[in-house]
Amino acid sequence: MKVCYFTATGNCLYVAKRIGGELKSIPKRMKQDRIARSDDAVGIVCPVYCGELPGMVRAFLEKASI
Ligand SMILES: Cc1cc2nc3c(=O)[nH]c(=O)nc-3n(C[C@H](O)[C@H](O)[C@H](O)COP(=O)(O)O)c2cc1C
Repeated sequence: MKVCYFTATGNCLYVAKRIGGELKSIPKRMKQDRIARSDDAVGIVCPVYCGELPGMVRAFLEKASI
């Protein structure tokens, strides 16, 4: 399982580590031209900002081929 995470103050990194699997930083992946994730399961761990996904996580989901 791949766990893609976005964190500002570390809470979501802590949660991603607790879930386990192969951790992938969303900000690092956003620097790539093409993002492809494939596995039996792909998880997203991120904070809620003003009741919504953080902008970078939204952009990641639009850009990534999962
Ligand atoms: C700008 C901003 C907006 C937030 N909005 C919400 C929210 O709408 N609901 C909520 O439960 N938490 C909200 N939070 C709290 C974060 O989701 C929470 O602190 C989270 O654990 C931060 O994760 P991180 O440590 O991985 O960055 C907000 C935090 C920030 C900085």
